[in-house]
Amino acid sequence: MRETEPKMDLLAIDDFDGELQQLIDWAIRMKNDDGFADSFKPLDGMSIGSIYEKPSTRTRVSFEVGVSKLGGQPLTLLANDIQLGKSESIADTAAVLSRFMDGITYRCFGHSDVQELAKHSSVPVINALSDMHHPCQAAADLMTISEKIDSVKGHVSWVGDGNNVLHDLMLACASLGIDIKYATPIGFEPDADIVSRAVTMASDNGSSIISSNDPIEAVSDAGVVYTDVFVSMGEENLDGKMDAFDGFQINEELVSHADSDYLFMHCLPAHRGEEVTNGVIDSKNSVVFDQAENRMWAQMSLLTRMCNEAAWHTYNELY
Ligand code: CP
Ligand code: NVA
Repeated sequence: MRETEPKMDLLAIDDFDGELQQLIDWAIRMKNDDGFADSFKPLDGMSIGSIYEKPSTRTRVSFEVGVSKLGGQPLTLLANDIQLGKSESIADTAAVLSRFMDGITYRCFGHSDVQELAKHSSVPVINALSDMHHPCQAAADLMTISEKIDSVKGHVSWVGDGNNVLHDLMLACASLGIDIKYATPIGFEPDADIVSRAVTMASDNGSSIISSNDPIEAVSDAGVVYTDVFVSMGEENLDGKMDAFDGFQINEELVSHADSDYLFMHCLPAHRGEEVTNGVIDSKNSVVFDQAENRMWAQMSLLTRMCNEAAWHTYNELY
């Protein structure tokens, strides 16, 4: 880590409240500047370690490729292959990895685990998904919205589970002053403390957060329609959870209530035929694969900001 004291961690997207639009603009610039990744190597000589306790396609590949593009060395640590969770504590793992690494990403079950890793690590820690937050996804999602449309018509809508992806989408929208309406089944609402954090930020930024249990109300006149799986990783054995989501599928009938130019978004992986129909996810309105690619650009922006702040400022001054 170079010249970033005190170290910054990214555990939830509002850790970068006030800087999020700049991080997104930076990511878009990097993506569109063909020569940029050839000449700009802010992670030269650095190693970024990524611990996974759950499976991943997008997060793992986007961190490995993105760190390499920035001149760094990515190191993937699968939980089954390391001592963490067996004979070694999170605190000791953090202390050891801090001696080798310049940044650590961590995909875990309980959010308190990534908080614990960050507490005992002397290098920046990025939450690569916990049961409560998925900040890298939110950064990529707001980047995708930003590159596709000048401003969101109506509002961003969410239909589905009140989960980790919704939490950070809501916080990111609130941070950028974008209205959001979400509909979840009764009993599957987002975490009350996170909603209250988001409501405070939204009111500071002149936007609103509206909750309901009615998908049509959430989607009506929306410029963005977002959903995620109904059952997240680690919840596979929750009896009867799926039954609560009858009527919450994003299908052609539901999106007919949205703005005609709406963007369909999903963090992926999608369970086609469950939370979304093929007709919607494969439609011209769908930007799901742009979201997937943008994971890499958004994380490259975040990694530069967190691991080499001097390079971040130098680049900003050049533009
Ligand atoms: N969206 C997302 O985080 O995908 P992975 O689980 O494949 O990393
Ligand atoms: N809510 C999902 C997101 C996967 C990227 C999960 O936590 O499994």
